[in-house]
Amino acid sequence: MELPLYEKIANLIEQQIQEGIFLPGSKIPSVRKSSKQMEVSVATVLQAYSLLEDRGAIKARPQKGYFVQEHRLQPSDPAKIAPTQNDGTIHTLLRRLLHASQNNDIIQFGAAIPKSQFLPIRQLQRSVGRLMRLEPEICAAYEFTPGSLSLRRQIAIRMLDNGCQLQPDDITITLGCQNALMLSLQAVAKAGDTIAIESPAYHGVLQVIEVLNLKAVEIPCCTETGINLDLLEEAAEEWDIKACIVTPNNQNPIGATLNYQARKRLIKQSVTFGFTLIEDDVYGELSYKDKRERSLKADDTHNTVIYCSSFSKSIAPGFRIGWVVGGPFQAKIEHYAYVQSLAIPTLTQTAIANFLENGAYDRHLRKTRQTYQDNLARCQALIAEHFPLGTTTSQPKGGFLLWVTLPGTVNAMTLHAQALEKNIGFLPGLAFSLTAQFNHHFRLNYALIWDNKTDAALKELGKLCQQLVS
Ligand SMILES: Cc1ncc(COP(=O)(O)O)c(C=O)c1O
Repeated sequence: MELPLYEKIANLIEQQIQEGIFLPGSKIPSVRKSSKQMEVSVATVLQAYSLLEDRGAIKARPQKGYFVQEHRLQPSDPAKIAPTQNDGTIHTLLRRLLHASQNNDIIQFGAAIPKSQFLPIRQLQRSVGRLMRLEPEICAAYEFTPGSLSLRRQIAIRMLDNGCQLQPDDITITLGCQNALMLSLQAVAKAGDTIAIESPAYHGVLQVIEVLNLKAVEIPCCTETGINLDLLEEAAEEWDIKACIVTPNNQNPIGATLNYQARKRLIKQSVTFGFTLIEDDVYGELSYKDKRERSLKADDTHNTVIYCSSFSKSIAPGFRIGWVVGGPFQAKIEHYAYVQSLAIPTLTQTAIANFLENGAYDRHLRKTRQTYQDNLARCQALIAEHFPLGTTTSQPKGGFLLWVTLPGTVNAMTLHAQALEKNIGFLPGLAFSLTAQFNHHFRLNYALIWDNKTDAALKELGKLCQQLVS
């Protein structure tokens, strides 16, 4: 059954609010202006606005017009999430979603893992082979925390590109970026403390918050400009925020990159309100520009930033090599890292150090970034052609993740279940929040070998969506 016109208009405006086109507290076009813009009657717009008021999306202010509802930021306690929404915890939801997609026949738009063709596997194979032949005793040696000196030297050299001047001793090698994030939060906060996170956020951060019994204030993000700093400031004024976790470059899942002013303001806020910034830069090297963006750590004037990253998105996720620059928390982080794992695999640390040293990394990055950019264009064109009217996508300027916003009537979990039956996997929006948001969104990984099969899968997804709209 076709929706009445006023409901379609309400859905469209609600979507624009979710997309951050109209920010919380901002004025939306007047009834008269909308009626002209959309070529519908004033009565229809009034009906749409009244529906949006009922939904709590906008609020009328006498004599002033209609305004987007301010977010009622509230720290959420992961232990108390409504069980009907996601089986009680983000961990169980993710396990269910990821388990359902563990099937080789599935076209994997889901996990944020590049296809192996985008990783320098052959070079690593040679390097590991050579190491095992020439230095077999490497298997018998612990590379105790803080990790291989030659790798830390190479990382310090690479970090010059993002504006950081570091010594190898400023760096601790970790088991991927996930471990770096976990160690950072353990060092900064204790159970019950409040952490500001992006919303939507990388689900691994949500899981860390869950296991450490922290509280999260989800700060809305816009696909263009990233985290809403007005709202972060409000949250910091209201609560004792211990840390804020941000991904300034190519955020997962929305792909936003913070501009220069936002970075400066964010650092200033961390100083003013006394919270630590935990910077997740795991997609930083995958910017489509020739020169990558600076890190927050590069402009860390007051030593309030902890920097976390890894080689999982660009070299080898299976090697589990990440690192953390802990700033004021370095000693504590190193201590915790040592207690938790004593050492990080010697073989994979050495192989990555050798790979970085031989200078092939930049060539490899240039090639993959170009392919991701081509895939993105193809993906967006297919979505524009085959998905229902009102579907929008983020505009990533790096990385390989696309955030898709569906018309308000399409539930991404329903779509997910139906898509799996057709062997198509993606990650529904619900996985990116602790507060059961983003029901009409999903994330799509486009670091795939793009062929007719991939084209067909995306078209099929669009078709399923069309059926759910009507
Ligand atoms: C934003 C973000 N941070 C951290 C990680 C974890 O990275 P790693 O595989 O190196 O632990 C991921 C993985 O998807 C991610 O997307």
